[in-house]
Amino acid sequence: MSGAPRLIILDTDPGVDDALALLYLSARPDLKLLAITTVFGNADVETTTRNALWLRDRIGLSAPVHRGAEAALNGQRGASPVHVHGQNGLGDIDLSGPSLPTPDAGAAHARIVELVRAHPGAVTLVAIGPLTNLALALRAAPDIAGLVAGVTIMGGAFALGNVTPFAEANIHNDPEAAAMVLAAPWPVTLVPLDATRSCVLSTSDARAAGDFVEAITRGYAAAYAKHEGLDGCPLHDVAALVSLTAPGLFTSKTTPVGVDQGGERHGHTRPIDRGPPVRVHFQADGAGLVDHFLRSIGPQGGQ
Ligand code: RIB
Ligand code: CA
Repeated sequence: MSGAPRLIILDTDPGVDDALALLYLSARPDLKLLAITTVFGNADVETTTRNALWLRDRIGLSAPVHRGAEAALNGQRGASPVHVHGQNGLGDIDLSGPSLPTPDAGAAHARIVELVRAHPGAVTLVAIGPLTNLALALRAAPDIAGLVAGVTIMGGAFALGNVTPFAEANIHNDPEAAAMVLAAPWPVTLVPLDATRSCVLSTSDARAAGDFVEAITRGYAAAYAKHEGLDGCPLHDVAALVSLTAPGLFTSKTTPVGVDQGGERHGHTRPIDRGPPVRVHFQADGAGLVDHFLRSIGPQGGQ
């Protein structure tokens, strides 16, 4: 590890695995968090923004939190996945405590534009929720496509989806935004379910990581046990960040990627013939990634 840390804007819908991604970020000296931007997804944006503010305080981060899109580009928002992330989006852990500040000034997509322009060639956008904020930023300021260091996305399913047999949640929540982001002339890395499904934090590893990780993942792991027969839970969103810090854990191909809109394949991602090249991490060394995550965060304290 050497040189200046990579500048990150984390676009997120916390979310249990989003919380683990923030925990990972906070532990990595090679990543510097410029801002947290929120989006609907695992809960409504009111809730995901409250969760981001709570996590910032709990984890001890100092980056601003900017509230973002409350619905997809077409104005619609599906039901929140409370059976996976709990009623409060964070596994129904106790979020009481000192009152939280309001979000920082500026809408998410507007701050993305300002920060990318302020640090030309240096900012990596890491999107671990629906891609609505990124699409709004692109729509408002197409020049940012030539100014980012990169865009890394947890999203997509080339084989089996998780909200339908074809579609992954982040893309399914706003396929129109995803299509815009994947068609823009900026360097995109996609970390789809095909890779993240193998990155399973077991219940015993979660317990060993400490009370906070154990508590926040308990309900999430129970949902994965019930629906996918897993012992533990996939580190979907953590994997997007690890693709920056330990890219050797992934096997990739580069191809233009399209997004199906409408019909039974709504939200499905697939290789297409024409379009900007996207680096797709189709496979991950799941055990290696989980080990890397646990070594990075170290033992965590109480809830
Ligand atoms: O499909 C996994 C993704 O959807 C993750 O970002 C998770 O947080 C959920 O929103
Ligand atoms: Ca997420």
